Amino acid sequence: MEPFRFHVFVCTQQKPEGIPSCPASGSLGVLDALDREIEARGLNHDVQLTTCGCMGFCDEGPVMVVYPAGVWYRRVQPSDAAEILAAHLRDAKPVDRLVWNDAAAMKAMSIEHGEKFRATMAAHEKAGMLPDRLEQMIRGYMPSRCILTALELDIFTAVGDGANAEQIGARLHANVRAVGMLLNALVALKLLSKSGDDYKNTPESARFFVEGSKDNQRNGLVHTADIWHRWSTLTDAVRKGTRVPIGRDDTPEWTRNFIAGMQRNARDRAPLVVKALGAACVRRVLDLGGGSGAYSIAFAKAGPEVQCEVLDLPEVVSLTAEYVGQAGVSARVSVRAGDMLRDDFGSGYDVIMLNAICHMFSEEQNRDIFRRAHQALAPNGRLVVQDFILNPEKTAPQHAALFSLNMLVATDGGASYSELEYTRWMNAAGFSEVCRIHLPGPSGLIVGVVK
Ligand SMILES: C[S@@+](CC[C@H](N)C(=O)[O-])C[C@H]1O[C@@H](n2cnc3c(N)ncnc32)[C@H](O)[C@@H]1O
Repeated sequence: MEPFRFHVFVCTQQKPEGIPSCPASGSLGVLDALDREIEARGLNHDVQLTTCGCMGFCDEGPVMVVYPAGVWYRRVQPSDAAEILAAHLRDAKPVDRLVWNDAAAMKAMSIEHGEKFRATMAAHEKAGMLPDRLEQMIRGYMPSRCILTALELDIFTAVGDGANAEQIGARLHANVRAVGMLLNALVALKLLSKSGDDYKNTPESARFFVEGSKDNQRNGLVHTADIWHRWSTLTDAVRKGTRVPIGRDDTPEWTRNFIAGMQRNARDRAPLVVKALGAACVRRVLDLGGGSGAYSIAFAKAGPEVQCEVLDLPEVVSLTAEYVGQAGVSARVSVRAGDMLRDDFGSGYDVIMLNAICHMFSEEQNRDIFRRAHQALAPNGRLVVQDFILNPEKTAPQHAALFSLNMLVATDGGASYSELEYTRWMNAAGFSEVCRIHLPGPSGLIVGVVK
């Protein structure tokens, strides 16, 4: 049985640099071009496009195979995508000039590749070589650090419509030799292209990293660069058991980047969360540590009678008001400067939200917030925790386990917590019907009701 008219597999198996592979011959570009053609021709329901691992034909890449007939293509280029779509995936006529149908040669090549691969692995094992997976994990900071420095310097904006290292160095007031080295590394990472001495942004970099682009996310991403400085204290933080001050946060610029980073995460997620919770019977919402106000904005847009209050630190609420104003809901989303660890919450709320908040605090602080939230909610009111939720062993999902360390380096007593912990704390605070709502994406919801 075939659920699709055609199922296309494109090899995207990465190999160490210098070793032939489909991605090294351009399979990611082929994948992208096929995807766009499928979309443009409205064939999404007929054609399933899937990536796959090595099929053993690395010297003939990019390789792809179309089922159910099992038609193999080799040395495909992005420029072939339109023809493959029109001839094969629409009219069921394979593109002969690209078809590879020498089954005997393919079988022999695949067996030879498998044997070579196993022999190489055995030799590495015997020589005591570190597996590639570990090498890559250990050096994983290098590409990350290049992009973060490029964002900090705003290099993509300085590249503009195209410039050489000297011009870019002058625009950034930075050393030309070093700027040239960084630019070349960014080309190697496929974030820039180079022709002669001139560098250009890729379409992706121009879209997401350049000042003036509608989808520019640089401000929010610079927050990740800010966090990197904290992560470099991890060894000391593990020894000490809590964060080690780095002396560069808590500036207005740091706070602006932080809230922009939070808004970047929350903007598209907030409507999903509000939909999952339902806004129908909700009149009053308290958004503790609401940051950019994204969740209150989504609530206000979902229910015409909803009134929200964002409580956040004094240095943040003016930024909240900016985002709320831009969303056009200032009449229904108010801001309150305060400290949720000390200040009275008020009373009569239908929903109190803790989006990406509990991980900043210790168990004792969270228990206290839950207890005071219970008092501040109306009957049938709900406390909503959104966070990265760990399994009972606290070892998965990977993102939540890593994020716990993000809190170790950034806070006095924060961490990621498990569903069991949140449930216990909610029950201890008096909440009933505590349940978890699974959502797409890395974070989940825990909801408790006042009965
Ligand atoms: C990780 S952000 C989450 C922002 C927002 N809830 C969201 O999901 O986009 C944490 C927020 O809590 C605020 N915050 C931290 N400590 C606070 C405190 N003691 N009282 C009030 N707000 C606080 C921060 O200023 C920041 O806006």
